[in-house]
Amino acid sequence: MCGIVGYIGTKQAAPIILDGLARLEYRGYDSAGMAIYDGEKINIRKSAGRLKILENLTRGGESMPGICGIGHTRWATHGAPSDVNAHPHFNTSGTIAVVHNGIIENYIQLRKKMTARGYQFLSETDTEVLAHLLDYYYKGNPLEAVAKVLHRVEGSYALGIMFADCPDQIFAARKDSPLIVGQNEDGCFIASDVPAILKYTRKVFYVDNQEVVRLRADHMHFYSVDEEETEKTPVMIDWDANAAEKAGYDHFMLKEMYEQPKTVSDTLTPRVKGKEIVIEELNMTEEEIKAIRKIHIVACGSAYHAGVTGKYVLEGLARIPVEVDLASEFRYRNPILEEGALVVVISQSGETADTLAALREAKAKGFKVLGIVNVVGSSIAREADNVMYTWAGPEIAVATTKAYSAQLIALYLLAMKFGKTRGKLSDKEFSCLLTDLRRLPDQIELLLNNKLKIQKFANRYIGAKDVFFIGRGIDYAISLEGSLKLKEISYIHSEAYAAGELKHGTISLIEEGTLVAAVSTQPDLYAKTISNMVEVKARGAFVLAVTCEENKEIEKAADYVIYVPETNPYFANSLAIIPLQLFGYYVAVGKGCDVDKPRNLAKSVTVE
Ligand code: M6R
Repeated sequence: MCGIVGYIGTKQAAPIILDGLARLEYRGYDSAGMAIYDGEKINIRKSAGRLKILENLTRGGESMPGICGIGHTRWATHGAPSDVNAHPHFNTSGTIAVVHNGIIENYIQLRKKMTARGYQFLSETDTEVLAHLLDYYYKGNPLEAVAKVLHRVEGSYALGIMFADCPDQIFAARKDSPLIVGQNEDGCFIASDVPAILKYTRKVFYVDNQEVVRLRADHMHFYSVDEEETEKTPVMIDWDANAAEKAGYDHFMLKEMYEQPKTVSDTLTPRVKGKEIVIEELNMTEEEIKAIRKIHIVACGSAYHAGVTGKYVLEGLARIPVEVDLASEFRYRNPILEEGALVVVISQSGETADTLAALREAKAKGFKVLGIVNVVGSSIAREADNVMYTWAGPEIAVATTKAYSAQLIALYLLAMKFGKTRGKLSDKEFSCLLTDLRRLPDQIELLLNNKLKIQKFANRYIGAKDVFFIGRGIDYAISLEGSLKLKEISYIHSEAYAAGELKHGTISLIEEGTLVAAVSTQPDLYAKTISNMVEVKARGAFVLAVTCEENKEIEKAADYVIYVPETNPYFANSLAIIPLQLFGYYVAVGKGCDVDKPRNLAKSVTVE
């Protein structure tokens, strides 16, 4: 979604802002712009299209001198991606500039009121109303004007604001859209996300909901929306700076796939103490774990797919009934949560609007929420009652890989912990599972080393029209994620089906040569899936099978087989997903797609 970067200090602002915006490109956008104060007035340059256009327009920022500015990459919601709709937006006299991420839900009413007061609107955006409202309320005190505007607007926002009258300060504010501010010896920064300013500072402050920040070159002040000053503690970011760079890989996605052995190990190892699993962040006593009657897993996209796997694993190992919901459905269906329910929300970014709303819905009903989150300090991490972090580090590619793998590990750990505590797993079973868990990083490494074989196979399907993924049980969950990986980055139509569902309609789509990827990692279901493979093959499909080394029987029904090493069937997703990620990646690369920034998509979906 939209990216915001702002700077005020002793250096030229425009190159810093362009650099920061480039580091936020992964979030997805379709236009970009900057506002810089040049010593006399605020200048704005903006353009539809890639950031490169803005860079060329401003000669890398050189043609916009000034030490104070705000910049933005826009992911269009209200109004087409055009020059005029791009941010920043000005008030009529060009003395107040605003960049905004989020949605002003009451903008139609506000726009009507402001139009009646004589304000003229140039764009179709909801954001422009903020510039005119600021103009209306500004009587020489910028903080007061910002606070008054925030009292008038409904919806979500992360804001960067400049007043030509007060060139020694910029303002930031947020509600339900991510925003951080940072500081170094040369100045202060605003950003939507840490990677934008990591090159300049590791000292950041997470802006709270309905909090306003006044940034000057050498200090920052934090205020409530009622203009009361508040105290704030900085967070020191300890990421390796290389984590947000490509490090020689062609794409972030490839780099992140290759980081999976480490990610899995980082999420797993600190929570395995000797023969035990210790999840301190759970903050649950044995009695509380025993009292769980039902688990509700709520998430979006790939995180939801991890949740579907989690259902099978938690039900299998801990014998607790699990319901999995898409967050966008859960939040509006008035879900029935009964005594003993534990709500688990899963999110890489920790900012997904629907997941955050689902969390709030559960909390409002009086239930505790456990967040499985990757981004430290994100909204979901801060609002959940307890947080189990997936230690995957920054994930830049829009298509998630390593964060998804880490989410799976978090769910396995929960299932084993609950299973053991509730007496559903014997010491022997638990110890065998632990051994298998510990082997996963090396097994993933082995699969990644097999990439050439998958690349060759993928090259054959660059021109594919439709691809189907089928599987049963956990293999269905793997199929969902394999299918999403392919379609989101290669733009090839793809769907995942529970293999048994095929003949209830979908099989009519199979034509001569249609690729069907059959995932078969569950020994109890091998024979059933083979039957489904035979059915599609008889109708002309080319069948790719992803299965375990022991399942040689499958060769009779498959046209091409990718084997994954043996593991406990509950953990098979962690292995079978690797060749499917590679497949999606190489098809997209072969087609010349923008793998890290697929069209229309954003990394953090901060609007519903
Ligand atoms: O940040 P989140 O995990 O909450 O994001 C949820 C989905 O938007 C996300 O998993 C999306 O489906 C992936 N980019 C797909 O690769």
